[in-house]
Amino acid sequence: MQDLEALEAELFAELEAAGDLAGLEALRVSALGKKGRLTEQMKSLGQLDPEARKARGQALNAVKDRLQSAMEARKAGFEEAALEARLATERVDVTLPARPHAIGHVHPVSQTIEELVAIFGEMGFSVAEGPHIEDDFHNFEALNIPAWHPARQDMDTFYLRSDAEGVRPVLRTHTSPVQIRTLQKTTPPIRIICPGRTFRADSDATHSPMFHQVEGLVIDEKTHMGHLKGTLIEFCRAFFGVDELPVRFRASYFPFTEPSAELDIGCARKDGQLIIGGGEDWLEILGSGMVHPKVLENCGIDSSRYQGFAFGMGIERIAMLKYGIPDLRTFYDSDLRWLRHYGFVPLEAPSVVRGL
Ligand code: PHE
Repeated sequence: MQDLEALEAELFAELEAAGDLAGLEALRVSALGKKGRLTEQMKSLGQLDPEARKARGQALNAVKDRLQSAMEARKAGFEEAALEARLATERVDVTLPARPHAIGHVHPVSQTIEELVAIFGEMGFSVAEGPHIEDDFHNFEALNIPAWHPARQDMDTFYLRSDAEGVRPVLRTHTSPVQIRTLQKTTPPIRIICPGRTFRADSDATHSPMFHQVEGLVIDEKTHMGHLKGTLIEFCRAFFGVDELPVRFRASYFPFTEPSAELDIGCARKDGQLIIGGGEDWLEILGSGMVHPKVLENCGIDSSRYQGFAFGMGIERIAMLKYGIPDLRTFYDSDLRWLRHYGFVPLEAPSVVRGL
């Protein structure tokens, strides 16, 4: 049995020397593997007589058990140390300053649309939308702009390729076709605004081939010019945030309204700066008028019973005036520096400065 004691001592010395999980595994193979030192001893038991076999078998098993539990304890120790080491390197230093969090900005056009929707929403308007690609009827004909009408020339229309029947679709030149689509499918009362994209073949500092308009439409039995004026004055004062904002209605002409009026707001120009509110100057803001009875009839609405008003304005234009943006073309340059400067922090974005 002395040889067994020596073997056990040898195995435990090797266990002591094993520095990591790989060392442990090597020891396991060399002691308990197929040709391991303890395994070989087990195999040679068969050559002993029964008495000696029993005693040596028990002794061998005892060595094997001691070695196995010692190896397990060692393994647990290695694993714990590995975990400790990982935790130490992965510890979060909560005293480090926070990384700056880049928040996207709301484009001035989106911001202005939101403001329009909020102001008109409070007055009881809802939002209607329509397609960008229109047909002649909705963009022109129904709006009392027949093919020979000079207003067609003013619009710089983008035409698309004609279809098989020779019908030529257009990119809508204004948001007024949404007015037509709403009139066709709704029985008054109607009170809507239609913000959206519009297209005209025109490009300079104040014109872009793609721009945005908002159209407004109110139809019921008794709406008159006084409502038109009240609604638009209220809107201008709310939008520009000037309570006593001077406004003036100027007689104008649109084929789809009669009478028609353009609205100007009072402003001053001092040292190249535009001040909205005071002063001797006027700025044109929007077009409006009482919806022409022909337009109502074109949409199947009885013009002897129903009447109302419509208005339309350019969204970029009023955004430029309110936020002092000098050039329309910059709206679509996709320049992030511009957007950071003129854009708006979204309301729902968490910010350390503003709180949640
Ligand atoms: N559709 C007109 C334009 O684009 C604006 C407008 C709308 C005028 C409604 C009067 C009434 O110029």
